[in-house]
Amino acid sequence: MKSMVSKSLWVALIAFSAGAHAESMSGKDVFSKNCAACHMATGTGIPGAFPALKGSKFVLGDANAVVSTVLKGRGGMPTFAASLDDDKLSAVVSYVRQSWGNQASAVTVQDVKTIRANTNAMKVVKKEQPTNIH
Ligand code: HEC
Repeated sequence: MKSMVSKSLWVALIAFSAGAHAESMSGKDVFSKNCAACHMATGTGIPGAFPALKGSKFVLGDANAVVSTVLKGRGGMPTFAASLDDDKLSAVVSYVRQSWGNQASAVTVQDVKTIRANTNAMKVVKKEQPTNIH
């Protein structure tokens, strides 16, 4: 009896974590919720307003630069540093690098962690500069 209970508990736990994992890893979901309004679900953007991510040299180039653009925002694009955690950010950047015919390497959660830490460190340095001048 006792082993029956613990067995079904394990099954439930495994099912739960598999579901949670799939949800956090769906770059497509993150993209449709956070990016498609401007860059379009097809990645083509809107000429003259929002750049295409499909076939973009920038998107297919240095992965770190893509991650830091999404973290910090740029021009008319908002920052996603607060709204996307490392999981979601790595999923969405991997998605844009590997969708609509794009073929570039995926980005790992660890990559995003490192870039986020470097970005934060740069902010600290910038903030401290004025006090150093006095
Ligand atoms: C409110 C509209 C908006 C949203 C939402 C948005 N972007 Fe952008 N994005 C822009 C604009 C505008 C630019 C061009 C910025 C500039 O250089 O002036 C841009 C630029 C980019 C670039 C650089 C493209 C290039 O070729 O230089 C990438 C990569 C990118 N966005 C990815 C994303 C991702 C991923 C998301 C979702 C997490 C997202 N964007 C959400 C408006 C948006």
